[in-house]
Amino acid sequence: MKQILVTGGAGFIGSHTTLELIQNGFKVVVMDNLSNSKIESLDRLEKLIGGKIPFYQIDLLDKESMIQLFKNHDFDAVIHFAGLKAVGESVQKPLYYYQNNVTGTLNLLEVMNNSGVNNLVFSSSATVYGDPEESPLKEDGPLSSVNPYGATKLTIENILRDLHYSDSKWRISLLRYFNPVGAHESGEIGEDPNGIPNNLMPYVTQVAVGKLQKLNIYGNDYETPDGTGIRDYIHVVDLAKGHLKALEQLFSEEGLFTYNLGTGQGSSVLDMVHAFQEATGINIPYTFAPRRPGDAAICYADVSKAERELGWKTERTLIDMCRDSWNWQSKNPNGFE
Ligand code: NAD
Ligand code: UD1
Repeated sequence: MKQILVTGGAGFIGSHTTLELIQNGFKVVVMDNLSNSKIESLDRLEKLIGGKIPFYQIDLLDKESMIQLFKNHDFDAVIHFAGLKAVGESVQKPLYYYQNNVTGTLNLLEVMNNSGVNNLVFSSSATVYGDPEESPLKEDGPLSSVNPYGATKLTIENILRDLHYSDSKWRISLLRYFNPVGAHESGEIGEDPNGIPNNLMPYVTQVAVGKLQKLNIYGNDYETPDGTGIRDYIHVVDLAKGHLKALEQLFSEEGLFTYNLGTGQGSSVLDMVHAFQEATGINIPYTFAPRRPGDAAICYADVSKAERELGWKTERTLIDMCRDSWNWQSKNPNGFE
């Protein structure tokens, strides 16, 4: 049985991937400092699988504890989700972001190298395409960063490309997520943002549950069919399944691989509001507000490479995403608290 270390496994995408891994016969160890998640998410996972998940509350910056962790376990691969992800906060606190994400990843890579663990799946982001000129975005398109968060992702990608180039025993998968939303169909785990959500879907569900009054739609004057911004929303369970495919590839093939994980479909903010209403029967009151600085008009993926090489494609619709996000939010109005 293959043993996988999941860093950031208590978080949104990490918890869903941990579940998927365990349900597919992997042994999982979770490491998380709980800076943006709660231990309750792992308790819920244990309830879902009916068993224990080994958990270590360790910070990526605490190298000594990571060395000990790698001495205690014989990992076959690492899926590295741990990182800070709030764009606005990264603009306010760039050093904190570089330290946590870049230095933290360097520590992890050193510990992996010294322990002879050289299979890594990394959580990258569509943010590495910067302010994209045209969609669909392909993996070999131009890369840039437009904020410190994006710069940490691009820097880590560059480090990993250099690492693989220096030594081909490193097998690495760079997964560029588009806009992950939704929740596990059980409603036991889901996205639990701190404070007022920045991202669209958790904002919508908090309006639906009555915690927020109305949605502000940032911009209705983009050059898009209805004037609102277009994104590629992907159900977090489809995304989690993509990680399993990427992992299986690393166990069978040498190389450094880069994949967009999205649906390949662009949806506008208004499409999302309408889909939510259709899926749940709940009206979302909204007003149009000025554009949010730094937002692209249109961003969606070309997913043909992942489909061709990984045999992976999404199965869940926008309606599924809305229904499952709402199921999670309505069962857990205050998240994991
Ligand atoms: P999340 O915040 O829910 O999960 C990240 C987890 O990492 C949290 O549990 C947090 O406590 C942990 N963590 C952060 N810094 C750590 C450190 N120094 N040591 C140990 N643990 C630490 O976020 P998520 O949405 O699940 O995202 C997971 C990864 O995917 C992140 O790297 C994020 O940048 C990337 N990503 C997310 C999105 C998205 O929209 N959610 C999009 C693209 C990429
Ligand atoms: C944001 C980040 C991006 C990150 C991604 C995933 C910014 C500028 N970009 O992307 O770097 O990789 O999250 O974490 O923060 N919207 C509203 N009202 C809201 C919230 C959002 O109209 O209250 C609109 C946005 O303008 C956008 C769409 O909804 O058109 C999606 O926004 P969001 O969920 O924040 O994701 P991104 O902006 O794509």
